[in-house]
Amino acid sequence: MPKIKDIPKVDRPRERLLAKGANALSKTDLLAIMLGSGIKGINVQSLAKKIITKFNKSFLDISIDDLLKIKGIGQAKALQIYSAIALIKRFYQEQNSTDLIVKNIQDVLTLTFDIRDKKKEHLICLHLDSRNALIKKETLSIGVLDKSLVHPREIFASSLKCKSASIILIHNHPSGNPAPSEQDQKIAKNINKAAQIMGIALLDFVIIAKDGHTSFYQKIQPNKNLDYVADGFQMGLFDLSEIEKPIYKNNKHYFQQKKSKLGHFQLQNRRYLGNKYKLLGFIEDIVNQKCSGIRSFCDIFAGTGVVGERFNNRNISIISNDFLSANHICLQTFLNTTKQINIKEKINYLNNVKYDENYFSKNFGNRYFSMKNAKKIGSIREEIDNIAGNNQEKNILICSLLYATDKVANTVGHYDAFRKKIDSIKPIHLLVPNIDYSHNTDNQIHQEDANKLIKKISCDVLYIDPPYNSRQYSDAYHLLENLTEWKKPEVVGIGKKMDRKHIKSDYCITKATLAFSNLINDANCKHILFSYNNTKDSKDGRSNARISDEDILNILDNKGKVDIFEKDYKTFTTGKSNGDNNAERVFYCEVE
Ligand SMILES: C[S@@+](CC[C@H](N)C(=O)[O-])C[C@H]1O[C@@H](n2cnc3c(N)ncnc32)[C@H](O)[C@@H]1O
Repeated sequence: MPKIKDIPKVDRPRERLLAKGANALSKTDLLAIMLGSGIKGINVQSLAKKIITKFNKSFLDISIDDLLKIKGIGQAKALQIYSAIALIKRFYQEQNSTDLIVKNIQDVLTLTFDIRDKKKEHLICLHLDSRNALIKKETLSIGVLDKSLVHPREIFASSLKCKSASIILIHNHPSGNPAPSEQDQKIAKNINKAAQIMGIALLDFVIIAKDGHTSFYQKIQPNKNLDYVADGFQMGLFDLSEIEKPIYKNNKHYFQQKKSKLGHFQLQNRRYLGNKYKLLGFIEDIVNQKCSGIRSFCDIFAGTGVVGERFNNRNISIISNDFLSANHICLQTFLNTTKQINIKEKINYLNNVKYDENYFSKNFGNRYFSMKNAKKIGSIREEIDNIAGNNQEKNILICSLLYATDKVANTVGHYDAFRKKIDSIKPIHLLVPNIDYSHNTDNQIHQEDANKLIKKISCDVLYIDPPYNSRQYSDAYHLLENLTEWKKPEVVGIGKKMDRKHIKSDYCITKATLAFSNLINDANCKHILFSYNNTKDSKDGRSNARISDEDILNILDNKGKVDIFEKDYKTFTTGKSNGDNNAERVFYCEVE
C-alpha cells in the first residue's frame, strides 16, 4: 500500500483542497484531511475510504462503538470523528431548528404569562437542553409555595428523565408584589445547592406578579448581559454567586496609640491572646461601609472589650459578653460604670496595704511573680472585699488589681506557663481606670455562654470573635480567674491551675462548627461580623483553626449575603509559634 508521501503532491487531499476548494474533494478526501494520519499499514486515504464505504448514508448516525469496531481505529480517532460529526449536526440543527430557545428573562415571561394572574401560587419548571432549547414545561406544584412542598428530589427526578442540562424555576405571587419572600430565598438557595450536586444548572429563579417580576439571575449581575449563555458556558446561580463573592483586601495602616492619662490605665492596656486592638480601624471601616444607622452593637466574645468600646457612644448601646469572670469584671468597669466615683483614695490605700504570706503567695510566689509581689497581690485582693462600698467599687478595684498584676507577671503574656528566671521584679502598683462615664448610658454586660445568651438578645450588629483553635482561654488565664473569684480553690500541677471544667469553650473542640451554626441560627440581628483567622496547617496542632472556611461560608450563606474582608496581620502569639502569613478575616453577613 503506497504511503501518502509516495502519492504525487498534486494528488494529495490537502494540496487539492488548497488549490481547488472543498467541492472538488470527495467525502473520502475530506475525512482523510480530518483524520490527518493513517495507522500502521493503512495510509490515511485508505482508512477514510474504509469508513465512508462501511457507513455510507448512515455516516451521520455513526456511534463511537461503531467506529471502534473498525480495525485500526482506536479511541482517540473514534472520538475525533464522532465529535466532528456532532459539531456539524449541532450547527445544522441550530440553523434549521424550530426549537424554542430560552435566551433570557423575556422568553421566560412569554412562556409563563398564563400564571401571572392566577389566584393560587403555581410553580413551573422549564427543562432545557445544553442549547437552552425547551425540552419540557412542567407544573411542579399548585398552592402556597413551601420549602417542605418543593423538594429538590421531585424537581431533579423529572430533570433526569428529560435529560435536561439546566432548569429555570418560575412561580407567581398572587399578592401582585414580585419581591422575594424569606421563604423564596430559602427555597432558591436549597434548590441551587442540590442543582450543583446533581450537575444540572439552576439557571434562574423567577417570581412573576401583576406589579412586575424578579429574576435572581438579573439580581446577581444587575449591570451585565442578561442573556442566559448556553452551550458549554451555562452558569447556574451557584456559580454566579461564587464569582460575585470577592475578597476585599485591605492593607491600610490604622494603629494609633491612644493617649494615656497620667496615673490612669485604659481598657486596651492588657496583653490578651487574640485581642483586636490593632484591628479596630479595619473593623470600624467595615461597619461604616455596611451597617448604617445602627443603634446597638453586641460584642458576644468580648475578651478585653476593645471592640465594643470602639462603638460605645451616646447613640449606640453596647451588649458586651464574655464567660470568664476576669473579663466580665473589666467589661463592667469600663463599659457599665455610669456614676462617677472617686476611687483614687481606695487605690492609694491598697497600694500601701501591709502584706504577708497568703493563698496567692503560697501557690504563685516565685513562679508567676516575685514572692514579694505575690504576697502583695494576695493581700490586696483580701482587702478589696473589706473596703469596697458596693459592687461598682468592687469591680473597679478588682479590675485595677488585674491590670496591675498582668504588668508584673513573670510570663510571656498568659498563664499557661511561667518563665524559669524571675526577672520581673518591678513592685506592683495599682492605677485608676480611665472610664468614659458619659457614654455608658444604656449598655448591658453579661457573663454567659454566648450560645445561651444569643437566644435572649437582639441587636443591629453582632460581632463574633470566638477562639479560633483548641487553646482554651480558661487555661491561658486561669490565674486571673482565680484572683477575680477569690474562692481559693485547690490548684494543681506545675502551672498551679484550678479546676476549669465549667469554663471550657465549645469553640475550641470538635463541636466548634455545630456551636457556630447554632449561634448564627439563633442570632436576631441585622448585620453579622465574624472574625476568624486562617491559622491552618501550623506545626503546633493546637493552633489550627477549628471551623473550616467552607463551613463558615455555608453557615453564613444560609443567613444572608456574605462578603469577605481580609487584612494582613501579625497575631499576638505565645512567642513560640510563628504567627507570620496570617490574614485576619472578617466575614460580613447582611442578614436576610
Ligand atoms: C478571640 S477572644 C476575643 C478577643 C476580643 N475580641 C478582644 O479584642 O479582646 C475570644 C473570647 O471568647 C471567650 N469565650 C470563649 N468561648 C466562649 C463562650 N462559649 N461564650 C462566651 N465567651 C466565650 C474567651 O474567654 C475569649 O475572651
